[in-house]
Amino acid sequence: MSMKKAWRAAILHCVANPDQVGSANAYEYYPDGLLVVTDGLIQAIGPADDLLATLDTDTILIEEPDALLLPGFIDTHIHYPQSDMIASYGEQLLDWLNNYTFPEERKFADKSYAQDVAQRFLSELLKNGTTTALVFGTVHKASVEAFFESAEQQNLRMICGKVLMDRNAPEYLQDTPETGYQESKELIEAWHEKGRLHYAITPRFAPTSSPEQLQKAGQLLQEYERLYVHTHLSENTKECEWVQALFPDAKHYLDVYDQHQLLSERSVFAHGIHLCNDEYHRLSETGSAIAFCPTSNLFLGSGLFDLQAAQLHQVNVGMGTDVGGGTSFSMWQTLGEAYKVTQLRGHNLDPIKAFYLATLGGAEALRLERHVGNLAAGTEADFVLIDRQATPLLHQRLARANSIEDIVFALMMLADDRAIKATYILGEAAYTRL
Ligand code: GUN
Ligand code: ZN
Repeated sequence: MSMKKAWRAAILHCVANPDQVGSANAYEYYPDGLLVVTDGLIQAIGPADDLLATLDTDTILIEEPDALLLPGFIDTHIHYPQSDMIASYGEQLLDWLNNYTFPEERKFADKSYAQDVAQRFLSELLKNGTTTALVFGTVHKASVEAFFESAEQQNLRMICGKVLMDRNAPEYLQDTPETGYQESKELIEAWHEKGRLHYAITPRFAPTSSPEQLQKAGQLLQEYERLYVHTHLSENTKECEWVQALFPDAKHYLDVYDQHQLLSERSVFAHGIHLCNDEYHRLSETGSAIAFCPTSNLFLGSGLFDLQAAQLHQVNVGMGTDVGGGTSFSMWQTLGEAYKVTQLRGHNLDPIKAFYLATLGGAEALRLERHVGNLAAGTEADFVLIDRQATPLLHQRLARANSIEDIVFALMMLADDRAIKATYILGEAAYTRL
């Protein structure tokens, strides 16, 4: 027998890219809306007045008159093994990696350690309303097994991969071109497109992979369908100089990946702060995406992402928290910092565009828009309920908001995990705030 439920709340979701149709045409907002879910899939969305009369008598109706119902957030770049080393003081990228990150990632050789962190990481995502993410493991195969096992248990749509890293890192964290290839292959065979899971080939970044390893990564991409590529690009100026020295034949940073056939419709490059026109052009031409990670870029002093340039070149962009370089799991906080980055670049980040980047835009960057990212009929019912009265300040500020744009903007600037009342996965509550 099928399971039918309907939520009555204010409902907002994006239906198109605001860059293409204009902000006003990019979303649907129902102040008194109804979301109808059958067996975990969205069956209908619209004004409650229109849809209530169409419900089958056996539909369970959930009334949430004070809540705002949104699609789950999509985090296009995050490191689960860095959950516990978030907020580590005082360094920029390369020293931060050596002093904090690598010693922490060493611990993931122990699968039970990895399992514990994976569980807590997924709980933290759900607590923040994030329902899909593109996730770094460590170099250890068991780290990815632990992650996928936890994600599968909770029926989450998640993407993860084993880090490839065969040089310029501590011995204890290195693989080889052969073992990296073989272990990735075993993980792909076991997990790629198993239920809601997907595999990402994950070279850490150009400096820590030899040309042989990058070549084998490109080979894997050819050998299987719909694999992702997940790596870092042009984050820190010292890193960029190092890449030029290590790969003197490359035209620019992105060209290192391009020469190894790693640009594709499912390639996601974190950061992309210091890019030249040709790099934007190649990203656009190949359908690759950039993960914009503002809290990380500010925290590590990496620089200000140029969202406007990415937009002009029609490069797909999603939002990334980049925990633990990033300082918050909250997509609201991440959007708030994104707004400030665009301000420092001399622009505004339109609230609807911001909301798009954190939901449908992220799904499009990951080529998952047929499944997640908005609340269109036929998609998977991963959604969140926002408590507009989560804090006294939010309550007061939202009470004077006179448009949905203003509501979204105030949430971007003021909300965090306290505003997530509940998170639903395939129509089932996966997190409920106490
Ligand atoms: N570049 C290479 N590795 C990392 C990492 O773990 N975090 C960030 N932010 N950048 C990287
Ligand atoms: Zn990262």
